[in-house]
Amino acid sequence: MVALDSIGSAFCLFFFSFTALFSLFSVLVFIFRIRPWCNCDVCRSFLTSSWSKDFDNLCDWYTHLLRKSPTGTIHLHVLGNIITADPENVEHILKTKFHNYPKGKPFTTILGDLLGRGIFNVDGDAWLFQRKMASLELGSISVRSYALEIVSSEIQSRLIPLLASFAEDRNDAVDLQDLFRRFSFDNICKFSFGLDPGCLQLSLPISDFSVAFDTASKLSAGRAMTSSPIVWKIKRFFNIGSERQLRDAVKMVDSLAKSMIEQRREMGNFSTQKDLLSRFMANIDDDQYLRDIVVSFLLAGRDTIASGLTSLFYLLSQHPEVKRAILEESDRVMGRSGSGSRSCCASFEQMREMHYLHAVIYETMRLYPPIQFDPSIAKTMMCCQMVLLYRVGPE
Ligand code: HEM
Repeated sequence: MVALDSIGSAFCLFFFSFTALFSLFSVLVFIFRIRPWCNCDVCRSFLTSSWSKDFDNLCDWYTHLLRKSPTGTIHLHVLGNIITADPENVEHILKTKFHNYPKGKPFTTILGDLLGRGIFNVDGDAWLFQRKMASLELGSISVRSYALEIVSSEIQSRLIPLLASFAEDRNDAVDLQDLFRRFSFDNICKFSFGLDPGCLQLSLPISDFSVAFDTASKLSAGRAMTSSPIVWKIKRFFNIGSERQLRDAVKMVDSLAKSMIEQRREMGNFSTQKDLLSRFMANIDDDQYLRDIVVSFLLAGRDTIASGLTSLFYLLSQHPEVKRAILEESDRVMGRSGSGSRSCCASFEQMREMHYLHAVIYETMRLYPPIQFDPSIAKTMMCCQMVLLYRVGPE
């Protein structure tokens, strides 16, 4: 009996010592990998924010460092980050070994309040399910025709009259970025919810929903900028400062999504509705999940489109010869009406023939990528190491 007791005690001692030593070892590996004491040029510049003397934002600084790096890859040791723009690394992470690079908890926690279980915030089976559903819907001819219908109507009935009204008053400058953000928000809301926020009406109204969505996206992203996640978590716990604003903004987005879902349920017969929400409602009953899926689409299609269009028109203003070539191509493909005026919207078939316009759009997005980095966590490393993929734009 005494012998059994001592074997039991020895086993406990061995087990706890092993656990303690293993934990200590993991912490040491983690610290050595992160190297919080690192004093290399990049880490020092990051820690002292001295990069901000020469660059407006972190992305511009990273671009500069990536350009100088012979491997197209840099390390931010103090954060445990690897930032790469090397096409082979990008292919390895996004394609060949995609499943080894999930979004990971640090990111999904930051965006969790706004995005919930939406496609941009999940990994594994939940991601695969939504990805398959998104590919199926976005690739279908009926959804594409619906998108074309919405965008053409927004251009014809709002964008062109608005630009014409600015053009008539030559002293009035126009903020194209603001117009394109309104344009993309109207389109993506109609496409996702069947809701028209009317942001691009002539009076340029302020939409509470658009403001709440902006605030929620901005403050969620702002969480990533705090020195430690504990800072925003404490603020969230006490519901103070930016976290209070974020909670209010998310509440507003939630209540709009909820009322849209309720309306759709009351209308019934989802198959006759064309918007994404109705399409998803045919397969999903969980209202919170539906809300999360659709909010991810709003995020996906808002600033990406607005940023791409703003960069395109900025570059065209610098390259009038490219603008002329686009107009020549569209006249050739779309023709002109009897009065010589240009028709405003191309059909799918006509768009397919506009090779020059496609090249200009691709080149714009290469120079000014609407999504500048795409973070993942390397699962195979012993501790979490973030890998950011950064597409290099112009200096
Ligand atoms: C100029 C416009 C756009 C750009 C530059 C863009 C860019 C991207 C990028 C870089 C990704 C991540 C790919 C990856 O990590 O593998 C992505 C994913 C995605 N985008 Fe877009 N996007 C644009 C417009 C849109 C629009 C309008 C929608 C929806 C209506 C949309 C829906 C999605 C979805 C559902 C995903 C999948 C997310 C995932 O697989 O985790 N995007 N997009």
